[in-house]
Amino acid sequence: MISTDGPETVPRARPAATRSRCRPRRVRLRDGRDVTLREIRETDESEILEAFERLSDESRYSRFLQHKKRIDPAALERGLHPRAGLDFVLVATTPAEDGIDIVGAAQYLPSQSTDARACEFAVTVAEDWRRNGLATALISRLVRRARRDGYETIEGRVLASNLPMLALAHDMRFDVEPATGEAGTLLVRRALAAGTAPARRRYA
Ligand SMILES: CC(C)(COP(=O)(O)OP(=O)(O)OC[C@H]1O[C@@H](n2cnc3c(N)ncnc32)[C@H](O)[C@@H]1OP(=O)(O)O)[C@@H](O)C(=O)NCCC(=O)NCCS
Repeated sequence: MISTDGPETVPRARPAATRSRCRPRRVRLRDGRDVTLREIRETDESEILEAFERLSDESRYSRFLQHKKRIDPAALERGLHPRAGLDFVLVATTPAEDGIDIVGAAQYLPSQSTDARACEFAVTVAEDWRRNGLATALISRLVRRARRDGYETIEGRVLASNLPMLALAHDMRFDVEPATGEAGTLLVRRALAAGTAPARRRYA
């Protein structure tokens, strides 16, 4: 991971949702390691900050589309307190000496685009946890949750040079198009019509 620092949001007047908690779920990755996928908790703050510190500059740039030395405190606060029915933040944890490490995270927020029924997602996986299906598992759950929250589209901004994320988006049947007004950035987008399942659910 990782950070919950996501796209800036413009809160929409979406009907309040009665939201069920997403139950923690153990997932075995391709290399045999297990992670627990669960919703973020307020108490995850220090682990989120540590996970961000472990990320390389390149990973941070890919995730935030800009160079970042630290997580914006307001964005961190927002990420730790998702608004029911609007935002969702999922973390992947693994046991560590101090309790847990966060090795992956994915989130969505209402999209900044003009489409009020769209949410914008982002995902990060710790460098030594990649190519094991973790991002696929995280995004699969985001997709299901976003559908339940009433969104009709899930989209994400990706650097045109971010080949791993573009390959992943292709695998998961996202469409890819240029992001309006953002040179070097692409928009990956997928409709959330009922019954549309992610293309590959090998690890989820
Ligand atoms: C992009 C990212 C999230 C992928 O995470 P991951 O857990 O390694 O992804 P997965 O293991 O689920 O990969 C699924 C598929 O995506 C493609 N893929 C992922 N990483 C790839 C890479 N480095 N090269 C080529 N294809 C890749 C592959 O098709 C892969 O399937 P395969 O392993 O069976 O070939 C991770 O590299 C990352 O955190 N990058 C930095 C942050 C970032 O770019 N976030 C995206 C901005 S929203």
